[in-house]
Amino acid sequence: MKPTECIILALDFPGKKEAFDFLPHLPELSWVKVGMELFYREGPGIVYDLKNAGYKVFLDLKLHDIPNTVGRATRVLAGLGADMLNYHAAGGSAMLAAAAEAALRSPRPPLLIGVTQLTSTTQKVLEEEIGVYQPLEQVVLHYARLVKAAGFQGVVCSAQETPLLKRELGRDFLTVTPGIRLAGEETQDQRRVTTPAEALAFGSDYLVIGRTLTRAKDPAQVWESIKSELNKTGGNQP
Ligand code: C5P
Repeated sequence: MKPTECIILALDFPGKKEAFDFLPHLPELSWVKVGMELFYREGPGIVYDLKNAGYKVFLDLKLHDIPNTVGRATRVLAGLGADMLNYHAAGGSAMLAAAAEAALRSPRPPLLIGVTQLTSTTQKVLEEEIGVYQPLEQVVLHYARLVKAAGFQGVVCSAQETPLLKRELGRDFLTVTPGIRLAGEETQDQRRVTTPAEALAFGSDYLVIGRTLTRAKDPAQVWESIKSELNKTGGNQP
């Protein structure tokens, strides 16, 4: 695929109007991500509108509940036409299996992606706040194994963790990587960050990019510089 087809734009806008006002800046965009802010404001209609406009939609609601609730919610979300859904791996294998089973029963099964550790989480936060005392990379790998065994297609992780996951779980196991920043850009609340070129070189399949584009003075120009960075890296492998 073309290098820019691996970009998922995080539509972190307060509403549909702001999102649709922004989209014409990036005519080559294929994938958009609808997160909690936009979905809670606009409801399912935002997914229909984006699908009708020709986008692939990653519905980033990070589900985490008991297996029955997650299975039933998955049936509803898959029915909206979302192309990708995600779940906190910390919900455990029964919850993940309920999601996988519900997705498979849908006429157009979405890609199922597990959230391992948020890219805003550091080793210190993991230990002192979450109470997990293993190296962060090992925790990410453990969760990735869990979601793969449940029938998921991949994980959300930092691009820095992609080489380990590809080595351990195979090249086809997808990595969707937020925490993307241009060289020298502010990291804001993200911690485990990489540049677009680094993410691609690490083997990431999808790069989730939000504020770097949505808060840019000239989004089209930032898009062009990301594109030329990705083209130099040669694009990711099919
Ligand atoms: O603006 P920025 O590029 O940091 O946006 C990253 C997007 O990816 C946000 O919408 C955030 O919710 C999402 N995300 C993340 N880390 C995860 C999963 C999703 O940053 N582990």
